Amino acid sequence: MAQKILIIGACGQIGTELTLALRKKHGNQQVIASDIREGNEELMNSGPFETLDATNYKAIEDIVLHHEVNEVYLMAAMLSATAEKFPMRGWHLNMDSLFNVLNLAKDKKITKVFWPSSIAVFGPSTPKTNTPQTTVMEPTTVYGISKQTGERWCEYYHNKYGVDVRSIRYPGLISYKTPPGGGTTDYAVEIYHKALEEKAYTSFLSKNTALPMMFMDDAIRATISIMEAPAEAIKIRSSYNLGGISFTPEEIAAVIKNEIPEFKIDYAPDFRQEIADSWPSSIDDTEAQNDWNWKHEFDLNTMTKAMLNGLKSLS
Ligand SMILES: NC(=O)c1ccc[n+]([C@@H]2O[C@H](COP(=O)([O-])OP(=O)(O)OC[C@H]3O[C@@H](n4cnc5c(N)ncnc54)[C@H](O)[C@@H]3O)[C@@H](O)[C@H]2O)c1
Repeated sequence: MAQKILIIGACGQIGTELTLALRKKHGNQQVIASDIREGNEELMNSGPFETLDATNYKAIEDIVLHHEVNEVYLMAAMLSATAEKFPMRGWHLNMDSLFNVLNLAKDKKITKVFWPSSIAVFGPSTPKTNTPQTTVMEPTTVYGISKQTGERWCEYYHNKYGVDVRSIRYPGLISYKTPPGGGTTDYAVEIYHKALEEKAYTSFLSKNTALPMMFMDDAIRATISIMEAPAEAIKIRSSYNLGGISFTPEEIAAVIKNEIPEFKIDYAPDFRQEIADSWPSSIDDTEAQNDWNWKHEFDLNTMTKAMLNGLKSLS
């Protein structure tokens, strides 16, 4: 059977680039984008699009049957900073959408599922540096609780019902093509925009807050690569740690200064500081390396060059 892919939440920061990458790989007509809102021009014009609410099981099922979809990437979610403002809406969206997709797979209407988890599954009691795959997990945010719960359900559906679900704990993702959607690591995207526009940025995290981060190209490569790995290689069915780079606002500012010498940063931490303080500063991803040959490519310097050049090319 030809591979037919549905991306739910395709118009977001990750979904947009993932959809375009999968269309390039499999052909535009093979990849159906869906979201509750419309996406950018390139996404909307390059292939099929369906308006879809991820909390509506019947609506997802109809699209899956109509397009003969066999793989679903579920990217719709409410992210960390926004979910702290709307806890019940965040919980409802993050959990109901996951159950909808897992149940479609359980009922054999689709054969493979990708669902992203996050470094937010960890909490203040987790070892902070080089955080291992298996460790204490006591998340303190609504978002983190929903991701940790989601991981447990993914593993359960795999063990009990044989569902082929694959997952990555993304670190903070940095991209220039689509704006971020309300996460705690968004500062590391905004800083590049402001560096070019105003040569100055006020960070909402303090200068020494180190967090795990990754350039979007690496994240998309990881996502496609875990989905293409043979099923027996995927030994972890909750979610894989994925390390990338780790840096503080002060460190990213120093690298931007190499490219834009007038650039200035100051700091005004807000409610997101508390969320950041509860998360790891770096991640050990040995299991991903061993099981499906993961290796990140971009470091802080190469990412900074790619971000600044990318943003300049769009303006
Ligand atoms: N961006 C990051 O740094 C990061 C880090 C860790 C994990 N993640 C995870 O990756 C996934 C995608 O994140 P993102 O950054 O692209 O998020 P985003 O907020 O940019 O995009 C989410 C998309 O989902 C859509 N959506 C919201 N409610 C919907 C609904 N009811 N039905 C259908 N679509 C709906 C939104 O319109 C949006 O386009 C999420 O599960 C997120 O938790 C992201």
